[in-house]
Order: sequence, then C-alpha cells, then structure tokens
Amino acid sequence: MIKVDRLTKKFPEVTALREVSLEIPEGEFFGLLGPNGAGKTTLMSLLVGYLDADDGQISIDGEVVRRDKLDLRKHIGFVPQSLALYDEMSALQNLEMFGKLFGIPSRELHKRIEEKLDSAGLFERRKDKVKTFSGGMKRRLNIIASMLHDPGILLCDEPTVGVDPQSRNAIFEFLERLNKQGKTIVYTTHYMEEAERLCSRIGIIDHGTIIALGSVDELLSRLPYDETISIMKNPSTRECLPVFQSFGTLTEEDDHYELKPSDGFALSNFFAKVESSGLKYQWIELHRPTLEALFLQLTGRRLRD
Ligand SMILES: Nc1ncnc2c1ncn2[C@@H]1O[C@H](COP(=O)(O)OP(=O)(O)OP(=O)(O)O)[C@@H](O)[C@H]1O
Ligand SMILES: [Mg+2]
Repeated sequence: MIKVDRLTKKFPEVTALREVSLEIPEGEFFGLLGPNGAGKTTLMSLLVGYLDADDGQISIDGEVVRRDKLDLRKHIGFVPQSLALYDEMSALQNLEMFGKLFGIPSRELHKRIEEKLDSAGLFERRKDKVKTFSGGMKRRLNIIASMLHDPGILLCDEPTVGVDPQSRNAIFEFLERLNKQGKTIVYTTHYMEEAERLCSRIGIIDHGTIIALGSVDELLSRLPYDETISIMKNPSTRECLPVFQSFGTLTEEDDHYELKPSDGFALSNFFAKVESSGLKYQWIELHRPTLEALFLQLTGRRLRD
C-alpha cells in the first residue's frame, strides 16, 4: 500500500504539490490525470525517492520514503517521461547496462532480459540499435529497462507520448498484463481516454492539488447529467418522434433533437427500436459524460490546451 499524506513540494518559483493525500492499495492500476505543469512528474519523483518533500510524507507498506533510503527503491520501477535509452546501443546492450546498475547477477540478469524482451514483443529485435526502433518500441523498452529488478510497483510517467495509436495499444496491453500479474501501477497522463480505459481509480490533479479522486464511475457520477443522445433532424426522424419520446424527454434544438433518457433506459432496447423503425444509425449520436467534462466543470478549463 502506498500512502501519500499531506505532501507538499515547493520549488523556488512554484508550489508543485500542495497537501496531496491519497492511498493506492497493492495491485491497483491508479491513474494520475492532469494538464501540463499539474505536478504529476513531481509526485512520481517523490514516490521513487528522487526528491524530498517540504512537508507531509509518503510511505510504502509502512516504510517512509526518503531520498537517503535507497533500499526502498528495490520495490519501485520508475519509467521516466523522457526516454532513458542509448540510441547507438542495441536493446540488449541497453538492458545489460540497466541491469548492472541495479546490481543483478549476470546469469539471473540474462534470464530476466530474455523474459522481458519476450513479454514486450521485442525479442526478435534485441540486437538492433535502439535508433532503428519505432516510438512505441522505444517506449516498451523504456518500461522493461525500468523493471529488471522485478519491482512490485511500477510508476509510468506519460509512457505513450509520441506513440502512434496502434503502438499505444500494445503498451496498454503490456501494462494491463503486468497489472494482472499483480503489479501495482501508477500511471500519469493528460489523456482522459487513457485513464478511463486503464485505471481502476483516478486522481485528477491540477496546480499541485488533487481535485477529484475515485473510480471512473464515481467521478462521472459527479457530473449533473448522464448520457444524452442527439438525433439528426430530417423527415424520417421527425416521423419517429413518438418512438424517441417513449425513451425519455426530447427537446428540439436548431439542427437536431436531444434525448435525455429516463430511468431504466437500456441502450440495446433503444437501438432495437431504432432499427425496427427503419432509422439509420448514422443519424443518432451517443454522448457519454467524460472525465474531460468533469475537469471542465471543476476548473473551467480543458485538460489539453
Ligand atoms: N526541478 C524543478 N525546478 C523548478 N521547478 C520545477 C521543477 N520541476 C517541476 N517544476 C515546476 O513544478 C510544476 C509541476 O511540474 P511537473 O513537471 O510536476 O508537472 P507535470 O504535471 O508532470 O507536467 P507535464 O504534463 O508537462 O509533464 C511546474 O510549474 C514546473 O515548472
Ligand atoms: Mg510530467
């Protein structure tokens, strides 16, 4: 269990973290969602013990984390936001170098390197220079380089920056597998879709303060509306207004109708009815409440500017 208790970190120009408190139980996939400069990396640096707090403290399984307590780092893998790899070296050479830094005996190290290259889908490319890798491959190598010492906790600081959507998926699946194997994962991002997809609990951070904390469903339930459905205005949909009205309250806007579903609404029934009325799916758009909308409501700003 990671326990962060009223943590404050000040830099000369800015208070990067202000009385941050949160608990992350073992095995959780925890997301830290916030815009640029919110304090995500600072919190990661404190969690791994690279920086000391000005006030408050962090403990892991009851042991207080501090810069001088190097033995606690055995339990933590830190995947930095900027890649920590040597381009001119092969994947294998990079991993060997990291393994030596962790002080892993050579025979054991080679076994682990093979396992991890394999699990990250990089075994075939192990002898190639890192500079020939795609963004996604570099990111995956960056992750396994940070966990050669087999830590129980993995801190991933924006691990998908600069990665195309397909490789991003490979990273998600890789991290999900690690989490299923029991690793606790703390994941920072400013993409709310990533947090929604991956994380069992999320803390939304802004200007060094946690402004919302909970499961995705808990967070979304704080918004004053549930899902809405907009329906394009045309002769066919106009004819079917009674069908829509049987599912909730319908209001007319300039170019579309807006349906607020009534209690007990089931999307499958709705679409079955739509289909049997001869209406096209393209005319209908579903809007779910999002973490982006919650952030907007809490701060008056968007997550990505
Ligand atoms: N070493 C440092 N010295 C001085 N100020 C710093 C330092 N590190 C971070 N800051 C400041 O602290 C604040 C929080 O920065 P931090 O890097 O933790 O944000 P972040 O949420 O990781 O942002 P990003 O999404 O851009 O990575 C920012 O205002 C930043 O300028
Ligand atoms: Mg950062």
